[in-house]
Amino acid sequence: MGIATQESLDTLDLGDVELWRDGPPHEIFDRLRREAPVHWSPMATWPEEAGFWSVTTAELIHEVSRDWQTFSSEKGGILAVDHATPVEVQNAMFIGMDPPRHDRIKALFQRGFTPKRIAEHERDIREIATRVLDRVAAQGEAELIKDVAQPVVGRVIGSFLGTPEEDDVAWAELANQGLGFGDDELQPEGNATAHKVIAEVFERVMKIAAERREHPTDDLTSLLVHSEVDGEKLEDHEIAFGFGLLVAAGNDSTKATYSNGMLALLRNPEEMRKLVDDPSKIPAAVEEFLRMFPAFAHFRRTATRDVELGGQLIREGDKVILWYPSGNRDEAVYQCPHQLDVERNPEHQAFGAGGRHFCLGTALARLELKILFEETLARFPDMTLTSQPEMVRSLFLNQPRTVPVRLRG
Ligand code: HEM
Repeated sequence: MGIATQESLDTLDLGDVELWRDGPPHEIFDRLRREAPVHWSPMATWPEEAGFWSVTTAELIHEVSRDWQTFSSEKGGILAVDHATPVEVQNAMFIGMDPPRHDRIKALFQRGFTPKRIAEHERDIREIATRVLDRVAAQGEAELIKDVAQPVVGRVIGSFLGTPEEDDVAWAELANQGLGFGDDELQPEGNATAHKVIAEVFERVMKIAAERREHPTDDLTSLLVHSEVDGEKLEDHEIAFGFGLLVAAGNDSTKATYSNGMLALLRNPEEMRKLVDDPSKIPAAVEEFLRMFPAFAHFRRTATRDVELGGQLIREGDKVILWYPSGNRDEAVYQCPHQLDVERNPEHQAFGAGGRHFCLGTALARLELKILFEETLARFPDMTLTSQPEMVRSLFLNQPRTVPVRLRG
């Protein structure tokens, strides 16, 4: 990784997926924060795409996140590459909208995620985790994503949305494929895979929506179908992609944090021991996993006017990328930022850096992660890694492909 130490940063292209082969390129981010905290990448590997500005310090990420008037989520897409998902689809989800429409639709979704509603699910989530781990306990070895994380997070978000359990795997695969741009296994046909996924999501959601129109229930899908924003019902594409946003955010995020966190513990047995010996440390450890391994490596904004940021002139229309793995390891904020310290209990930007788009699912994600780590470590305190996994090769999804383990020492 020569660029980390010597080469000119002018030729650095953070859009090159090769740099992301082993996960976020932390040595490069370390250098960018020091030398060029707002840096231009030409996006040479995807010549049909415009280049982008990278924002890498915690302070600047915070500044951009707070200023939606200058750094819009609606003027362009929300990802570094436009071709990943058609921009119209991104703008049909409230994550790809600006106020006032964003705030109105988010308020609607928030009704399904109130602290009371989340707390009501604690028993159900623990039951789901226990059931999944009981099944796994019969095996000598397991793959923690496929066998543990996926079935748990898939059923939890499925129970919020009101989809049947037999569809959980299909939804999880759609989410993973839909978000996995740049990765040949997740999107073997590149854009074409993403477009197929979108068409399938639309068709499936419209079927469920039609059922809820006929027979209202108390799940989130029913809420979306029957609620009104400014006196009008949501349109079909807003329902479909609002639902799709929850499936994607609900599946890939928590799963990624759990699998990265377990991997880090398996590689640092003395840190794992601290949690096994004293499970009351788990909520703090979850914050450290979120800090070190933010599930989504970036979100994007688009400049609505010429503006100076970190000494660079950003032009109206330019893409501005917030790199959370970098802000979360900013030495201006954290001591020994690359070191796992399960007792650090840090603040971080894994859920975004404040502002309008702050993650809707934080309470749910924290609860799911706490339960998943508690139940896994209580049952399998001597778990060991059987081989070193590969990472998904992506500028967006920050997760291992597999976490293969032997369950007992
Ligand atoms: C470890 C778990 C999670 C992480 C790391 C995470 C991370 C994020 C991030 C970085 C954003 C964008 C922030 C921004 O652009 O400023 C976001 C937004 C969002 N997340 Fe999460 N998320 C997680 C779990 C969840 C869950 C479980 C759900 C839902 C069930 C969810 C639903 C959403 C939604 C709907 C948005 C869009 C909010 C908006 O635009 O106002 N997330 N999340």
